[in-house]
Amino acid sequence: MAGSDAVYLDSACQTLRPYQVIDAITSYYKEFPACGGRSVHSMATKVSMSVDRSREAVASFFGCKDPRNFIFTKNCTESMNVVAKGFGLKKGDAVLTTDMEHNSNHVQWVEMANDIGVRRKITRTSVTGEFDIENFKKELTNDVKLVSMVHTSNVTGTTVPVKDIVQIAHDKGITVLIDGAQAAPHMPVDLKKLDVDFYAMSMHKMLGPSGVGILYGKEERLKKLRPLIWGGGTVGLATYDTVKITAHPEKFEAGLMDYAGIVGTAAALDYLSKIGMDNVRKHSEGLQKLIEKELSGTDAITSVGPKDPSKRSSIFSFNVKGMGSHDVAMMLDNADKIMIRSGMHCAHPFFVSRGLEGCARASLYIYNNEDDILRFASAVKKLAATFSK
Ligand SMILES: Cc1ncc(COP(=O)(O)O)c(C=O)c1O
Repeated sequence: MAGSDAVYLDSACQTLRPYQVIDAITSYYKEFPACGGRSVHSMATKVSMSVDRSREAVASFFGCKDPRNFIFTKNCTESMNVVAKGFGLKKGDAVLTTDMEHNSNHVQWVEMANDIGVRRKITRTSVTGEFDIENFKKELTNDVKLVSMVHTSNVTGTTVPVKDIVQIAHDKGITVLIDGAQAAPHMPVDLKKLDVDFYAMSMHKMLGPSGVGILYGKEERLKKLRPLIWGGGTVGLATYDTVKITAHPEKFEAGLMDYAGIVGTAAALDYLSKIGMDNVRKHSEGLQKLIEKELSGTDAITSVGPKDPSKRSSIFSFNVKGMGSHDVAMMLDNADKIMIRSGMHCAHPFFVSRGLEGCARASLYIYNNEDDILRFASAVKKLAATFSK
C-alpha cells in the first residue's frame, strides 16, 4: 500500500507486509532460486539451509526447541486437513468443536460424517461467542477422540481458554488440535506451555507471504499422523511396489515447496519478535477501546462480538441497522477508502444459528493507528445517520 491514503482494516484475512518480508522473498528469486532438499549444488544447498533457518525461527517464535515438529503447508486450512484426514478417525469416533468454527474446521467434519461416519459434536458458546467450560466438559464424552477448536474466532474475536481445554481433554486421554489462524498473529503463543497436540496457522495473517501455513505437532503425534499428500520428498527409497515413508517434517512436505514464502516467513517472525507479541496485543486492545468509545453510543450500530473491547482481540464485527453488510463494506470503500470485510466470514453456521445474515468486520493490526480508527468510526456513524432512519 505504499503511497496510499486508504485505511486497511481487513488484516484478519491477510495482513500487509513490511519491506523486510518483501525483500526476503525477492532475495530468494534474485539470489538463490533453486530447490531445497534435493540437488547438491551450492545454490540448492543455500535453499536447504534457509528452509532449516526458517523452521528454527518458527520453533523459537512459538516456544519450542525442536524445529522438526513444525511443518510448512500452504495455509491454516491445509494444516487443519492434514490432521483431520491423517489422524485415523473411524466410524463412530466423535470430534468436538465449538459452534463458531471457520469452514476450515467445519467442512471436513461434515464430509467425514458422510464418508466414514465420524460423529461431530459441538459445544455451544454464548450469543457473542464466549466459551463455556461447563458446556465443554459435558460434551467431552468418551466417544470424543479429537477436540478441534478455534483459538480466537474470526467473527467475534473471542478467545477460548486453550490451556484449560487441553488439560481437561488430556485427563481423558483426548488429543487436541487448535486452529490458531487468528490467535497466533495477535498474542504470545507458547505451544510448550499450552501443551496442545496440534496447532495450525497461516503466515499471511501475521505479516508473512501469501500461501504459507504451519502445522505444529508433538513428536509422538506427528509420528503416528498419516500424510495427506504423497510424492517426491516424502520417501526414503521407493521400488515399483513399495515405498518407505520418511520421518516428519519431510513426510508432510511432498513436492517442491514455496521456498520464497518460507524465507519470507523467517523475516515476518523476526519483525514481530522485535515488536514483541505482548505489544502487538496491547496495540489492538488500545484501538478496540477507541472503537468502543466512538461507536458505543450509536443505537443503529450493533456489535456481533462481546461489548467488552478487551475480549475482541483485533476484531470488531458489527451491523448497521437497515443496511446489508456488503453495502456497508462497499460504501466505506467507495466513499472513504476504508477496506473492511463483509458477509458470513466462512463461518456460516455461526450466523445461521444466531439468525444473522452476516456482518461487517473491521480487523486491526500493528500498522493501524488512532487516526485510522477515528476515520473508520466517523464513516460508520455517517452511514448509520444516513441509512438507519
Ligand atoms: C479462524 C480461522 N481459521 C482458519 C482460517 C483459514 O485460513 P486460511 O484461509 O489461510 O487457510 C481463517 C481465515 O480467515 C480463520 O480466520
